[in-house]
Amino acid sequence: MTFKTLDDLTDLSGKTALVRVDFNVPMDNGVITDDTRLKVALPTIEKLVAKGAKVALLAHFDRPKGKVVPEMSLKPVVEPLSKLLGKPVTFASDCIGDDAKSVVAALPAGGVALLENVRFHAGEEKNDADFAKALAEVGDIYVNDAFSAAHRAHASTEGLAHLLPAYAGESMKRELNALDAALGNPQRPTLGIVGGSKVSTKLDLLKNLVGKLDALAIGGGMANTFLFAQGHDVGGSLCEKDLKDTALEIIAEAEAKGCRLLLPVDLVVAQEFKANAANRTQDLGAPLSAEDKIFDAGPETVEQLKEVMANSKTLIWNGPLGVFELPPFDAATVAAAKFAASQTKSGKLVAVAGGGDTVAALNHAGVVADMTFVSTAGGAFLEWMEGKELPGVAALES
Ligand code: 3PG
Repeated sequence: MTFKTLDDLTDLSGKTALVRVDFNVPMDNGVITDDTRLKVALPTIEKLVAKGAKVALLAHFDRPKGKVVPEMSLKPVVEPLSKLLGKPVTFASDCIGDDAKSVVAALPAGGVALLENVRFHAGEEKNDADFAKALAEVGDIYVNDAFSAAHRAHASTEGLAHLLPAYAGESMKRELNALDAALGNPQRPTLGIVGGSKVSTKLDLLKNLVGKLDALAIGGGMANTFLFAQGHDVGGSLCEKDLKDTALEIIAEAEAKGCRLLLPVDLVVAQEFKANAANRTQDLGAPLSAEDKIFDAGPETVEQLKEVMANSKTLIWNGPLGVFELPPFDAATVAAAKFAASQTKSGKLVAVAGGGDTVAALNHAGVVADMTFVSTAGGAFLEWMEGKELPGVAALES
């Protein structure tokens, strides 16, 4: 991957950097409940400020569908961001036109402004040329630091990169380097863990991974579909029976490509979907009633996974191995996560994780800080794992 970074920039005094960030943060009644994405943007902002630039931040929040929706304003982000940066952040009530330009014009060198939700304009999601031009008029250079929005070909994530000198921000750079180390040019043997409830949402991902990895562990509800396809009884568990043939195709593909598939060999079974529900552990093949549901992989499965992990140099992880929100059905996910963390800490493993509820699962296991890299991206991480080109990244490369 070749793209320009902030290290290619020297003195930026008198210049305005238009920086696309992802401030699509969880919010409850106008209060941010998780500021990870704000923190992730700080290194880029600080680096540009240090080079003397004015920084104008572009972001989306939620999906207002091209209309001004006051509840989807970015204004609640201003104060928390200003606190994290330790300097004032000015808010512009529009991301284009005189509102944006006058706020930016009034900034001192090294000043920071947050511009209102780009998705209040219909041109954003349409990647409209005139809207992109109007955005470009607000700055001199473009920095994309929003990997997690890079799967969208929108004006502020893609179009702008063709109109202004374009650079990857610090977090974008870290993300792309980590992803390259995990799946682009990884050290082998490589292991993937893919969990979550449904095969149907991860078909492309599984197909791509079996062609690239040395081993792939499948967990969570989606493992049931594979077990069912192999003729095992899954009782009343979540299972996409109509995907039996697809699961068999993936198994055959894995075999043909030399990717070892790891499926559960023992199961934790309960009848009630609640924390601490009465449960039992049994080997794959032992009888299940129609009321029995598989909620987690058993300890023998975890041991096998740990053994493969111990012999792997790279791990890429997406999705939990069981219903980790309900203890004790978090046991397999937590044990695998802790082992991955200890292997990573001792320098034996490069471990990259992301997508969907993976971050929540690893947070629950208390290992986020010990992994090599944990992406804050959801859809973008999944599309990248599917092997798709991300428009926001491709635009930076050109
Ligand atoms: C995300 O939260 O995953 C990104 O900000 C993308 O948001 P979107 O799915 O609304 O495009």
